[in-house]
Amino acid sequence: MKILSIETSCDETAAAIVEWFDHQATVLANTVSSQASLHAKWGGVVPDLASREHIKNIVPVVTETLERARLSPADIDLIAVTAGPGLMPALVIGVSAAKTLALLWDKPLIGIQHLEGHIYANFLSSPNFQFSISNFQSSSNVSISKSAEQAGDLFPLLALVVSGAHTELVFMQKHFQYEVLGETQDDASGEAFDKVARMLGLPYPGGPEIAHRADAFRESHSSENIKALTEKFPRPMLSVDNFDFSFSGLKTAVLYSLKKETPETLKDEAFVASVCHAFQEAAVDVLVGKTKKALTLYSPVTFVIAGGVSANVRLRNQLRNLIDSEFPDTKFLTPEFTYSLDNAAMIGIAAALRYEHMDETARNRLLEAHLTLEPDANLPLQNLL
Ligand code: KG4
Ligand code: ZN
Repeated sequence: MKILSIETSCDETAAAIVEWFDHQATVLANTVSSQASLHAKWGGVVPDLASREHIKNIVPVVTETLERARLSPADIDLIAVTAGPGLMPALVIGVSAAKTLALLWDKPLIGIQHLEGHIYANFLSSPNFQFSISNFQSSSNVSISKSAEQAGDLFPLLALVVSGAHTELVFMQKHFQYEVLGETQDDASGEAFDKVARMLGLPYPGGPEIAHRADAFRESHSSENIKALTEKFPRPMLSVDNFDFSFSGLKTAVLYSLKKETPETLKDEAFVASVCHAFQEAAVDVLVGKTKKALTLYSPVTFVIAGGVSANVRLRNQLRNLIDSEFPDTKFLTPEFTYSLDNAAMIGIAAALRYEHMDETARNRLLEAHLTLEPDANLPLQNLL
């Protein structure tokens, strides 16, 4: 089956076509129109501005996606759209467009939770997991012979979800069954990167701006020489015995340290890079430390990272070191960089798998979803009943 998926939860207008065939997802086209440069001068996403941009872009993005895949509406079997969480003025554009297309083309329509999309983005880049992806309803006798040996089981699975608005550890016993083990009590990890970048006079989105300065700084200094700097900022809640996070104290610690500096120092590139390094080390330490606690207690077969901050190379490397040294039996998946940030292909694969595992009644309901689907700015992860 071919799925046309749409994502407009924040500042990316995105559409994709994912083909689901023989238990494998192939991305036939993936279009992302980013508004980041538009919002950069405001230091963050302005919801009404994002909404207006989505209105301008949604039709060209969907049209271009169909053209790139050389498909017409008749070839599409299912329409999928991000239903939440996200900015309401942004979500409504994608949801309205998807409902209109579903009505006009007479297609089933499915709403997908954005973070679920980020988690499932990991399977877009893992052809070896085709066996286990399909194998969740029955644990035996799935009639797929290929790659069974190398794939093994996928579940239980632990996901570290790190995006601009969310930071949480999610445990899954099987597909579409979510248990949130812990989450941030204040700022999300991506939000902390963005806010610290803003304090340093760096543009939005701040994550990549901080990351490349921090990485260059670390690579050009010996770890001994910068030890004090590396340990300069607090690691909030790291020693608290639960899976919750807090990033606002770290952000405030950076703010207070900057207040002590002269305007000249604040403009100095080497100084800015040193703060980027100290902040990134603290943020990554907290994420890795909490993940270690969850891996220890839950012993998942697979560990994945999801959301925009999963593009952070230092985070990926530190998690890789942790897995290799202390949890060598755990499979560690990361999304391809293209699918780390917001995109619609991740919505497409989540939709394909949900559809595959729905019963006839649930599938029939999707034919009426153009009448009922509503965006929800706070939509939680939804268990498949
Ligand atoms: O998932 P995403 O694209 O959008 C949301 O769902 O929020 O995540 C965006 C967030 C932003 O806060 C951005 O600064 C952060 O991901 N980000 C990064 C990196 N690339 C993007 N944070 C740290 N390091 C990066 N390389
Ligand atoms: Zn996202």
